[in-house]
Amino acid sequence: MTITVVGSGKVGASVALNCALRELDDIILLDVIEGLPQGEAMDINHQLSERGIDSKIKGSNTYEDMKNSDFIVLVAGMGRKTGMTRMDLLKINASIVKDVATKILTHAKNATLVVVTNPLDPMTYLALKTTKINKNKVLGMGGMLDLSRFKSFIHDASGCSRASIQAMVISEHGENMLPLIRFSSIGGLPISEFLSKEQCQKIFEKTKKVAAEVIALKGATVYAPGNAVATMIESMKKNKKQVIPVSAYLDGEYGISDLCLGVPVVLGSNGIEKIIELELNEFERKIFDLGVTSVREAINLINQK
Ligand code: LAC
Repeated sequence: MTITVVGSGKVGASVALNCALRELDDIILLDVIEGLPQGEAMDINHQLSERGIDSKIKGSNTYEDMKNSDFIVLVAGMGRKTGMTRMDLLKINASIVKDVATKILTHAKNATLVVVTNPLDPMTYLALKTTKINKNKVLGMGGMLDLSRFKSFIHDASGCSRASIQAMVISEHGENMLPLIRFSSIGGLPISEFLSKEQCQKIFEKTKKVAAEVIALKGATVYAPGNAVATMIESMKKNKKQVIPVSAYLDGEYGISDLCLGVPVVLGSNGIEKIIELELNEFERKIFDLGVTSVREAINLINQK
């Protein structure tokens, strides 16, 4: 089997590199742009060769090449520019995701689909509905990336090793994301043992805003997204059953139905094996519900098209 990455821009190439360095499988890099996936594949294969890694990367402009893939990563679409929100990409990326998802339905309807294209939660929902893949095999990469940043800020503020930090971010991968201070820890100890309320509030806000800062400085976020996707695929391919926040289809969980949103799940060989329902306090539930409203409105706009 193989992993197909649809979209061979910076993020797609980073996904391919991160998956290959973990030796998860052979990889097909797909794009409509002639030469781009082929060039990226050559460059990555040269690195793998020096590392003695036998995973192979193939570049392709042909959608049917995804036919033997057990994992598809949907990265295709426009990235946001400085000053834009992820939701600003809704209209243009909905048509791209619908087109690619239709091709996945044709060529790889039994694959597990990891969606990366923004706005992440509405695009995950659109891909699920279009491909008709079982809901436990369609997941969006958002919270895994947000928690990478949350961990980074906890490390900076506490001075504790990154290896000791566990963090959780749920709800919308967007303006209403919810970094969960109460459910994050350092060495299994509550964050409040190390950081003041003011420090926690500052980290909460920085986690939400930092992607836009990176985009303003370098034009796109690349390495952390690629790593986040590889961690999700590794947990499923190796049946590690890691607890990871992903955008999942809710069918009554958290009192929400027919919507995709970031929630903690157990990721194993059956994809989303369990959705974990946390007891949120009043403040957490308020932010969570803002995410629900934002994604619901976006889905309604897509359905009107
Ligand atoms: C980010 C994009 C991938 O958060 O949404 O970097």
